[in-house]
Amino acid sequence: MGPMRVGVRRGAPDQTEADTRVVGLFEGETLGAPELQALVDSGEARGKLKSVVVTHEAGGRRVIVAGLGKREELDAEKARVAAAAVAARAKELGAKALSWAAPTADTAVAAGLVEGTMLKLYAFDEYKSGRDDEDSTRIESLEITTDAEVERAVEEARVRAEAQNAARDLQNQPSNVATPEYLADRARTIAEAHDSLTFDALDRHEIRELGMGAFSAVAQGTDREPRLIVLRYEGGSGGPRLGFVGKAVTFDTGGISIKPAGKMHEMKFDMSGGAAVIEAMGAIARLGLDARIVAVVPSTENMPSGRSMKPGDIVRAMNGKTIEINNTDAEGRLILADALCYAVDQGAERIVDLATLTGAIVTTFGSTYCGLFSNDDDWYAHVEAACKATGELGWRLPLHPEYFELTKGQYADLTNSSEARKAASIYAAEFLRQFVDDRPWVHMDIAGVAWGMTRNYVAGGASGFGVRTLIELARTAGA
Ligand code: BES
Ligand code: MN
Ligand code: ZN
Repeated sequence: MGPMRVGVRRGAPDQTEADTRVVGLFEGETLGAPELQALVDSGEARGKLKSVVVTHEAGGRRVIVAGLGKREELDAEKARVAAAAVAARAKELGAKALSWAAPTADTAVAAGLVEGTMLKLYAFDEYKSGRDDEDSTRIESLEITTDAEVERAVEEARVRAEAQNAARDLQNQPSNVATPEYLADRARTIAEAHDSLTFDALDRHEIRELGMGAFSAVAQGTDREPRLIVLRYEGGSGGPRLGFVGKAVTFDTGGISIKPAGKMHEMKFDMSGGAAVIEAMGAIARLGLDARIVAVVPSTENMPSGRSMKPGDIVRAMNGKTIEINNTDAEGRLILADALCYAVDQGAERIVDLATLTGAIVTTFGSTYCGLFSNDDDWYAHVEAACKATGELGWRLPLHPEYFELTKGQYADLTNSSEARKAASIYAAEFLRQFVDDRPWVHMDIAGVAWGMTRNYVAGGASGFGVRTLIELARTAGA
């Protein structure tokens, strides 16, 4: 099944060739066409956001009247929500081509319509028998009908949503398919499609040779070969070099400190940060954004075996710091410690990492906000703005010397898990901070939002969270 065709069309909304056209309705406003206004008058069509009413006009074309809320409140996020409601209904009705009449000249709203539609229609069904029948009634195209200059915004939105859906594909693949080598292959494929990207992947031996004792310790317990995946983007001259780092534990059993069976299957999603980083890099290259980025994705399984790291083991990370491993299930911070050192080594001047790092952040924020942590208020403001602009919500939690104290080891410089069990998400952030060499850095703990979101346009399984924020950072961090 091919990707959805997305474009901009000029002219009258009712002159489209699409089988289904969509007209937005603001609260308290009217519609031009008398037949459609009759639906408003009768109370059937409403301006309330998410309201969807279906009718047909002369010639048989389907018309969907979609509620948009109050005109002055319509923004990209509400556009995503409205578009998702429409897309779900249109799919049920067997629509093949959608034509949205842009409700305003706002480029962000046009982009939101594209994202909401594409993200809502995402499905991961390659292992379901008989899906070919359903494919014949797929929505194949989306056009935004408008006289406004929205081409660039619509194309960017299409690329963003496609990348986010690609990240969801990587996440949803089970761990027997999506191995570290599989993720590396995906990164290589992306790099091969763009001259501005270069790919590198270090193997078990090379990871050890670089002095990555923490990453090596996690990887020593599994028979699957680990990879340190590196993508470099050279798409401009100015601005600081960005470092994107993504945790990619392709399955987290907990290791010797093994997890309970109940939800362990969800730990195939423990590579979500890495998936977001890899696919965002592809989108950034496709859009030719003016940025220089080094992306580092440490990838391994975390398994119990006769070779596994054990509680009490002491290892040395790439920057020389020693770590006492008191819980083998706190493996994300171990692989990230070395990956952050590597990003610094490779010249990253502003760093953002994405990681499904702590269960505690799920308790704190559920599946609505990710946790944000930073050692630099200016860089934090930048990342927060990117989150706001894309609707990928984040909320800052503090760092503090008292939390830093908790990370000190009894026998080594650091311990990856303290007996105190206090402030677990902040503890993890304080741990990571010690590997960024004081560079401006933001840590995004995405354990709650990487899957199981309940946003109208991304609900259920993998969310692809972070892809849009990273692309936005590449677009805006040049200054
Ligand atoms: N991948 C998990 C975090 C996680 C848990 C993500 C649940 C999503 C849902 C991480 O590797 C982990 O196991 N963290 C431990 C750390 C603890 C042992 C200090 C946790 O949060 O329980
Ligand atoms: Mn773990
Ligand atoms: Zn983990």
